[in-house]
Amino acid sequence: MTYPAAANIPEPPYILCEDLFKIYKIANLEVVALRGLDLKVRRRELMAIVGASGSGKSTLLNILAGLDQPSAGRAFVGGRDLLTMSAAEMVEYRRRQVGFVWQQTGRNLIPYLDALQNVEVPLILDGVSKRQAHDRATELLHAVGLGERLNHLPNQMSGGEQQRVSIAVALANDPPLLLADEPTGELDSIGASRVFELFGDLNRRFGVTIVIVTHDPDIAARVDRVVAIRDGRTSTEIFRRVHDDGNTTEFVHDEYVLVDAAGRLQIPRSYLERLNIHDRAKLLMGEGRVEVLPETAAARHDRESR
Ligand SMILES: Nc1ncnc2c1ncn2[C@@H]1O[C@H](COP(=O)(O)OP(=O)(O)OP(=O)(O)O)[C@@H](O)[C@H]1O
Ligand SMILES: [Mg+2]
Repeated sequence: MTYPAAANIPEPPYILCEDLFKIYKIANLEVVALRGLDLKVRRRELMAIVGASGSGKSTLLNILAGLDQPSAGRAFVGGRDLLTMSAAEMVEYRRRQVGFVWQQTGRNLIPYLDALQNVEVPLILDGVSKRQAHDRATELLHAVGLGERLNHLPNQMSGGEQQRVSIAVALANDPPLLLADEPTGELDSIGASRVFELFGDLNRRFGVTIVIVTHDPDIAARVDRVVAIRDGRTSTEIFRRVHDDGNTTEFVHDEYVLVDAAGRLQIPRSYLERLNIHDRAKLLMGEGRVEVLPETAAARHDRESR
């Protein structure tokens, strides 16, 4: 009997969210921030999440970071079940399994500690000796291109440099996953470019899985995959693919609409408006395609006069 080669067995996704819900309750008001979200992220993937304000991006990232608990559904990171983890396991998860970078540079760093000390803090809290913490922090600051800024305080560095220190802090305990919520939101385009280059570099060098929430319009050129969230669900996905026609090699982007386990997909609102589709549409199976058509005026009249 022969077994398939290990390379043929698909690796389970590092992040797996299925039908994920997050409902915030304030007094008697319920806000559904995630409504049946599905997401898979491969180990060592560099991907981004985009979406309008209020679509649920930060909610998702906070759940993946172990900072917030989902209301229902399934969420696994590295085989750990985020819905059933105990408080103690959650603390351990946050300390060892995930690094987090916030948009506000000021929220990531301790203002009265220099770059080196900021990176040493999580190491020392984790029980690493002062000497080892110093060596690891120095190495990380070199890795993020700040070997010349070891003793600068946060306010003696540019916003982009502060975010690079924040990334070093997030990676101090060598987590396999790095999450960043609009890490370039406060930076100019050059600062943002350097931060994105750094994410690519860290992803290739250390194999860290990276998920970035961003509004950067050029993000598709900088990561392997961009997933868009709309109204608390994943809606579309853009892949970067290398196209080689024998003469030139270039990146091309393929865009897909995501279809969930129940067969649901989202049609962009602008398409619905252009076709005047409201609460019902006709599906026609064609040759290798499915067409979505508006209800005809006659059919509508017939239905309403019944
Ligand atoms: N702690 C909270 N309590 C109540 N409602 C919340 C809370 N956090 C988020 N929400 C609501 O959940 C929804 C999703 O918010 P979220 O912060 O995830 O959006 P976002 O996509 O990150 O938006 P932005 O691009 O503006 O950062 C919003 O309607 C928001 O008002
Ligand atoms: Mg947000």
